[in-house]
Amino acid sequence: QVTTTPPRADGFQVVGTVADLEKNGQLLNGETAAGKVLIVKYPKNTSQIIAVNPTCTHKGCVVGWNQDQSSFVCPCHGSKFASDGKVTNGPAEKPLSTYTAKVEDKEVLVKI
Ligand code: FES
Repeated sequence: QVTTTPPRADGFQVVGTVADLEKNGQLLNGETAAGKVLIVKYPKNTSQIIAVNPTCTHKGCVVGWNQDQSSFVCPCHGSKFASDGKVTNGPAEKPLSTYTAKVEDKEVLVKI
């Protein structure tokens, strides 16, 4: 269960814990101030994280992170997006929105 607190004065919002991110390899929070946010560790084996709005720009399905392909993949019609949100495979034409993400005190924060 992900608990959601309001955004802070600096624009960052806590979206989950590092423990959950480590456990699942990705962290989806559907209730941020910006709607759905998906956080993944990337590049692999680093402490860096990236965050996107996982709503597919084709017809709105929720994309997931595919570690082997280093891509966000849509389960509905197969669109693929690179780690920076750019389309690498249609039918989607527009990139996923990205957010600035960081870790602080074992919590994952995203700038909304
Ligand atoms: Fe994602 Fe169609 S909704 S590819």
